[in-house]
Amino acid sequence: MISLAIETSCDETSAAVLNDDKVMSNIISSQLFHSRYGGVVPEVASREHLNKIIEITEEALEKASVNLSQIELVSTTSEPGLIGALLVGLNFGKSLAMSLDIPFVPVNHVQAHLYSNFLGDQKKQFPFLGLIVSGGHTLLILVEDFFNHKILGSTIDDAAGEAFDKVAKLLGLGYPGGPLIDQRARDGDKSFHKFPLANVKENEFDFSFSGIKTSVLYFLKKINFENYKSEKLINDICASFQNAVVQSLFDKTLSAAKKYQVKDVSISGGVSANKMLQSRFNSLIRQGYNIYFPKPGYSTDNAAMIGLIGYYKYRFSEDKEKYFLETLKHNAKAKLDYGIF
Ligand code: KG4
Ligand code: ZN
Repeated sequence: MISLAIETSCDETSAAVLNDDKVMSNIISSQLFHSRYGGVVPEVASREHLNKIIEITEEALEKASVNLSQIELVSTTSEPGLIGALLVGLNFGKSLAMSLDIPFVPVNHVQAHLYSNFLGDQKKQFPFLGLIVSGGHTLLILVEDFFNHKILGSTIDDAAGEAFDKVAKLLGLGYPGGPLIDQRARDGDKSFHKFPLANVKENEFDFSFSGIKTSVLYFLKKINFENYKSEKLINDICASFQNAVVQSLFDKTLSAAKKYQVKDVSISGGVSANKMLQSRFNSLIRQGYNIYFPKPGYSTDNAAMIGLIGYYKYRFSEDKEKYFLETLKHNAKAKLDYGIF
């Protein structure tokens, strides 16, 4: 089954063509200009999606050597995300599906991150523990089988990627902050300073990252950072901050893996591109764990992962007709609704 997938939930306009669960093309256009504002400006993001969506879709079809008449299914991110940005992709995808009279599948973006490690011939094994670390979400999920999820924990405040972005801003590094901190941390000393991480008492698998951002802020004030900043100092702060965040993600994931006796751990979302995070988790391989990270191109936002979920949802559905009706009734949702997991 040839499907077309569209992703416009934040600042990436992406289109992909899949043949069943195999990716034929995955085109991503990132709106880099938001860095000048220090973060994504929602209205500007929506307008840029409008400018790009047709061009990116045509590029994806061309790269896959597929024409519109061969498409049998359209999947599009419907939640969560920036509402205006979501609406651009959703209306484009729905209109296309209606005009071609083919099924349309709305896809949850976070769910797509969770399964992004199934792209590119990675081993598919259940149960696995999924850690989703993106700019908007931090979730620890026990996946017993396809779409059989138990949420073990989530962030009670900032997401991991959000903490990277906010700390990068405090250090004057730019946006998005994750890759910049990651790069600088490689030349820094992770034991330079111990930034504390809050312990969430109610649920041992919940995360909290807003306190560490505040402790970086107070530390910068205390050392009079603006007057004494140097490349070395910035690198050391990046390494120390990153080390604390990675440790928290690692510790909680490992203790959940032990508690639920799961040996397969899958890490996904933008922050999964982080080198320190990867090497910390990969150290578990020696202890008999199977560790999965997204293949290049599938960690940050992309339409291929949306297409994979669209295809699975359609294939596993006993009522395929509803995906024609969905075309007419489905609307975008800005917030993540855990219920649908
Ligand atoms: O999954 P994603 O592309 O978008 C959301 O769904 O939110 O994740 C974007 C987030 C940003 O916060 C960005 O700073 C972070 O992923 N990120 C990283 C790295 N690359 C991207 N964080 C840490 N290290 C990286 N190498
Ligand atoms: Zn994402």
